[in-house]
Amino acid sequence: MKVELLDDHSESIPMLADWYVSEWAPYYGIDGPGDARTDLVSRTNRDEIPIGFVAIEGDEIIGAAALDFDVATERTPSVVGLLVEPSRRGRGVATALLKSAELHAKRLGCSRLYVSTTVLDRLLVRMGWYPLEEIEFLDSEKGLIYARDL
Ligand SMILES: CC(C)(COP(=O)(O)OP(=O)(O)OC[C@H]1O[C@@H](n2cnc3c(N)ncnc32)[C@H](O)[C@@H]1OP(=O)(O)O)[C@@H](O)C(=O)NCCC(=O)NCCS
Repeated sequence: MKVELLDDHSESIPMLADWYVSEWAPYYGIDGPGDARTDLVSRTNRDEIPIGFVAIEGDEIIGAAALDFDVATERTPSVVGLLVEPSRRGRGVATALLKSAELHAKRLGCSRLYVSTTVLDRLLVRMGWYPLEEIEFLDSEKGLIYARDL
């Protein structure tokens, strides 16, 4: 498995947009404020934020993430759109995407990164992230904002 820039795999954007709509319907669904395809297209940069990443196995895209402004927390740069195809979960794909996001953030001169989550707490702490504050998402679920000093 490898992680590459979304810009080198922009043909995957329609598929990724469908994944985002299914996973985050309150935001990207038909009545939501977000537009998944527009967000993904805006992340086809190579040397500036917003910048997107994809995880690839063989010639299949199996996950995605990006460094961008997080509308949920209003913090930037944040790791957003972190999603792994359901049949590929639990095998370190999200870990590899997060690691890659950290490396690119450092390359682009960032000293601190953010992420908001309800599910990745243990994994983030293992990777050196620390909790900053609580957050309530659009679907009223409560989560935490984590930071990572680079
Ligand atoms: C959360 C998600 C990105 C994890 O991807 P992954 O490739 O399975 O993650 P990894 O294999 O690198 O790490 C697995 C960790 O994620 C946690 N996890 C959360 N949801 C999981 C799921 N549905 N399946 C497997 N692991 C899951 C596991 O508990 C594990 O943590 P642990 O080692 O502390 O137990 C993936 O489940 C997903 O796409 N979920 C839907 C979208 C989402 O919630 N995104 C996160 C936004 S911050």
